[in-house]
Amino acid sequence: MTTAVASTDVPGERITVRRMAFVFTPDIPENWADDNPMVTALMAGLSAVFPPGERYFIESVRHYADRVQDPELKERIRGFIGQEANHSKEHSAFNRFLDGRGLEVGRIEKFVGERLEALKKRSSPEANLARTVALEHMTAFLASALLEHPEVLARVHPTVAAFWAWHAIEEIEHRSVAFDVYKQFVDDERLRLRTMATVTVLFCTLSAIRTARLMGRTGNLLNLSAWARGLDLMFGRPGVLRKTLPLYRAYYRRDFHPDQHDNGAAVERAKSQYLGAISA
Ligand SMILES: [Fe+2]
Ligand SMILES: [Fe+2]
Repeated sequence: MTTAVASTDVPGERITVRRMAFVFTPDIPENWADDNPMVTALMAGLSAVFPPGERYFIESVRHYADRVQDPELKERIRGFIGQEANHSKEHSAFNRFLDGRGLEVGRIEKFVGERLEALKKRSSPEANLARTVALEHMTAFLASALLEHPEVLARVHPTVAAFWAWHAIEEIEHRSVAFDVYKQFVDDERLRLRTMATVTVLFCTLSAIRTARLMGRTGNLLNLSAWARGLDLMFGRPGVLRKTLPLYRAYYRRDFHPDQHDNGAAVERAKSQYLGAISA
């Protein structure tokens, strides 16, 4: 079950660093999401890339942190780093749980970590930050899809649902931090939009490859019914990603800001349902 070790409120924007310690127990079923190997594999693949991904996000933003004068933005960066570091830690724990079941997500984690480290070294700080801003929008988009369609998490094992809800809540809380740092220190619109186009193609392609690979490891690669039900959930009926697509597209507007999308009610509902007394 869930244990909150501590939580810290960061003043200014509401960014709460909740130090969690999820315990993933043997009663969690093999297909813990939607009773479907495809949805489970998709989410397991995402979990595999979070620890190295979030380290990359932290380092991209931290590069600029010393130059930030505004005390409120400084505090929000502190909250962002605290939240992402905890996500990385808890996803590592979840990944070890998945490894224990023979999924070998650790191999994906290691591969992505090496690639991101090389990418970071050969890229400018501006390019690293632009990728972080784009990927932070992707995670806020996925988090919004999850929390605005509570019927999805309702069909996930309770401990695993609380774990994903916690991550989604915090992604929405800090969704504008990297963007505001980018606006202040880089503010290159062409780079921002071009990077998002590239990141989207890579993100979708690699997510599909990872899902197929993990489906293969559980013997479900040719389970067409699982693929059909999973794709239907995302793009058909109810089509949770299809319905959230306007949020993704908003990124391409000149006047875009991550906080324009108001999903405060969905976040509050998820906080009381999954975090209860833990959440500030
Ligand atoms: Fe995160
Ligand atoms: Fe994030």
